[in-house]
Amino acid sequence: MKILDTINALQNWRKSIAHDKSVGIVPTMGALHDGHRSLIARCRRENDICVVSIFVNPTQFNDPNDLATYPVTFEEDRAICEAEGVDAIFMPQYGDLYPDDYRYRVSEDRESCLLCGAHRPGHFDGVLSVVMKLFNLAQPRRAYFGEKDWQQLQLVKGMVDAFFMPVSVVACPTVRETDDLALSSRNRRLTSDHRKKAARFPHLLSTDASAAEVARLLKTDGFEVDYVEDFRGRRCAAIHCGGVRLIDNLPAPKTEDR
Ligand code: PAF
Repeated sequence: MKILDTINALQNWRKSIAHDKSVGIVPTMGALHDGHRSLIARCRRENDICVVSIFVNPTQFNDPNDLATYPVTFEEDRAICEAEGVDAIFMPQYGDLYPDDYRYRVSEDRESCLLCGAHRPGHFDGVLSVVMKLFNLAQPRRAYFGEKDWQQLQLVKGMVDAFFMPVSVVACPTVRETDDLALSSRNRRLTSDHRKKAARFPHLLSTDASAAEVARLLKTDGFEVDYVEDFRGRRCAAIHCGGVRLIDNLPAPKTEDR
């Protein structure tokens, strides 16, 4: 497994791959878990070559404390990638990936302002900008994203369509713990009490109650609620549990009039 830590290293590696070989990419911010493993496994099944990017992208963090406390576990990540048969890890530095210091960016001005975007101004500009850079550099045929970040997935698909980018965006199902909490790198920041309590989140989200009622019940349980909203057939929500922001989404209940 190659560790590519500069743009040059990635570009030279990419040039060495024969034109008839397909490259798949799994973009990540590290702190890999079983959700990432499932993306990597699918990427490996569907492509000749699999590259995983690991880059904690500062431009998508609107809260400096969230960025400062984002888990970094490179040695574990490397071992997971090795075990999953990844061909290369791309792990650039900020200055390499942003030679313009983020003067230029990709922006979507409608749906990126809703749901998570309403609570994290600029977040999706950062996501779209870094994903476009990764696609331009790695030139993947396919790119793998988890449905847990449903809004991100829709916006990445929209960007690929809008800019005629030659990459297929592959949506992969959310992987959950046995108590249904969606796997997330942020879960490891939960204390054991908050981790137990967090299971109420997917539980309440999956009921047939209205979105407003689910928000009310989550607040009654002591969570700080950013939003619970039904949007394009999904029930999407973000909450804070012990200071850790958790997001999730499920098909919206059919009984509601919307
Ligand atoms: O989902 C993530 O981990 C990040 O938003 C991504 C897609 C790697 C961009 O930094």
